Formats: sequence, structure tokens, C-alpha cells
Amino acid sequence: MSKRDFLSTADLTRHELDDLLDLAARAKGKRPGQVLAGKTLGLLFFQPSLRTRVSFEVAMVQLGGHCINLSSDDLYELEPQDQAIMDGRAEEHVKDAARTLSRYVDALGIRSAARVGTWERDRQELLLRSYAKYSSVPVINLETNFEHPCQALADALTMRENLVSLKGRRLTLLWCNHPEPKSLGPTHSILQVAARMGMQITLAHPLGFEVDAEVLERSRGLAQDAGGSLLVQNDMQAAARGAEVLYARSWGCTKYWDDTEREAMVKRSLQGWRVDEQLMASTDNALLMHPLPVRRNVAATDAVLDGPRSVIYDQAANRTHVQKALLMQLLQ
Ligand code: CP
Repeated sequence: MSKRDFLSTADLTRHELDDLLDLAARAKGKRPGQVLAGKTLGLLFFQPSLRTRVSFEVAMVQLGGHCINLSSDDLYELEPQDQAIMDGRAEEHVKDAARTLSRYVDALGIRSAARVGTWERDRQELLLRSYAKYSSVPVINLETNFEHPCQALADALTMRENLVSLKGRRLTLLWCNHPEPKSLGPTHSILQVAARMGMQITLAHPLGFEVDAEVLERSRGLAQDAGGSLLVQNDMQAAARGAEVLYARSWGCTKYWDDTEREAMVKRSLQGWRVDEQLMASTDNALLMHPLPVRRNVAATDAVLDGPRSVIYDQAANRTHVQKALLMQLLQ
């Protein structure tokens, strides 16, 4: 039987997405029991994590299984390219690491969101895709520069809990400032999930912070097919007006992807891209969402993050429940 990976929200049909969210809602209401007793999930983090790591560990424990965590300090430097002549720094090929780990664990989760080249290179998710190719167990994307599908599942569950049906609801995905270069993963994933749900999406960012062109086109098509819409807007105030959900997150500039100093210079004039009470007042009493971690009083003010419409901790909490559903679907 072929294994199934979870690498991208684009892999999920609308039906599969609904099924997963329904299962997550049931798993949240009533614990499913020890259905994954004896199963082991290997988690490989090449970057830091609080939510993803803890929520996966808790999900596995609640289902009767357990996790093994490895960080980049524990691992040999890896070579993802096929047929590479390995006379450089990389000590081990992903092929060997993936095939070996597949003999130990029942599934693998991988976070690999380093900037290692141009956007054209990093959008290919080489390390993750190489693990998926050579593992004989399911591989789960724990965030790359291109996607963060587990986050988007938690976001969708959180919106559904508050709005019931997402079709036709007005979602603004808003770029906000951040001193560090960030991945496009959470933005690409929630964009595609919201499009599949038929939401009316406004994607708002300053000029120069366009998302990946292929993801944008795919999302436009998905939104149209589902009876929704997707509008790109470069004016923050106009984008927030009338929103029912305001989802804030920073993301990197793909044009200067391999020149972080230049990106930082561009962002110096963009400090006004921050969510505050005035911006929230122009929405239709919007929920405020952010996948965390958040730079307080840079991306969004304390007043709105701690305000009555903020659901940032519900998003984080829902990571456990959607991941339980995902693990049950992949491993049972
Ligand atoms: N949202 C999210 O993935 O958080 P962590 O980086 O803490 O895992």
C-alpha cells in the first residue's frame, strides 16, 4: 500500500479538508482514545519551534503514541540533491537518513524553512521533498518557506468555530512589519485553504511583497471554483475595511530573497504596516488572527493582540486537534 504524505494544502480536496476539520472538531470534543498506541512520530526541526513541536507531542501522547524530537544540532549536515558528489560539508544524503529513519518511526514531521538560495530554489522545498521521496513512512510538512499546512488547518478550524460557514465570509490576509525575514509558508497555506472554502479574500501587502505567482493563480482559481473571490490590495486601510477576519503575518520579499540586507532596507519605510485599534475599528468587528510567534507592537499592538476579538491562542490550541485528526488519518 503506498504511503500518504501531507506536504501541501493544495493536496487536499474540499471534501478531504471538510472531513479533516470535522474529525478535528470531534477529537476536540471527545478524546479518541489510545488509537495510535505503539506508534512513533519522528520530528525533525531545522529551525526553532514552540507551537508545532509541543502540539504534535501532545497530540501523539493523547492518542497513545509518542514522539522523538531531533534538531539540527542532533543531525549530520544533509545533502538533498540527487547524484550529488558529496565532497563538501554535507556528511549524509537525505536518501540514507530518510530510509534509515523509516525503519524506526511510523511517520516523520519536518520543519525546514532556512533561506539557502534564491526564491526559485527555496520554493522547491528540496529537503522536505527529498525526505518525502525516500521515506517509506508518511512525511508531514511542519513548515517550509513555501507552505505551513498544519497551521492552515488550525486556522480554518478556528474560523469555522467562530463563523460556522466560511463560504462568502470576508477574510483579509495582511502583511505586517517584522525586523527579520520571514517565510511565506503560513500565508500561502491559509490563502489556499480559504480559497478552497469559498471565502472572499483580500490579500494586502506593500508593493514588492507579492506572494508566489503560482500560488496566487492557483488560489484565484480555487476561490472562483468555490464561489469566492481573491483581490490583491496594496492599501492597508482599504484592505481592512469591512473584513470579518483580519489575519496578520509578515512574509519575505521573494525578489530580494537571497539579499536580506536589501529586504531590511525596504522594510524600514513600512513600519506603518501594523495592526492597531484604529485599523481594527474599520473592520466589521473582525476576528484578529496571527499564527505566532508575533513581534508585539511591531506587527500588532498589545491592545489588539490582547483584545476581545483576538483568537491567537485558539489558533495555537487548535494545532493539537487538527494534528490529532491528521495523524489518525495518516497512521490508522
Ligand atoms: N505557528 C508556529 O508554527 O509556531 P512555532 O514556530 O512556534 O512552531
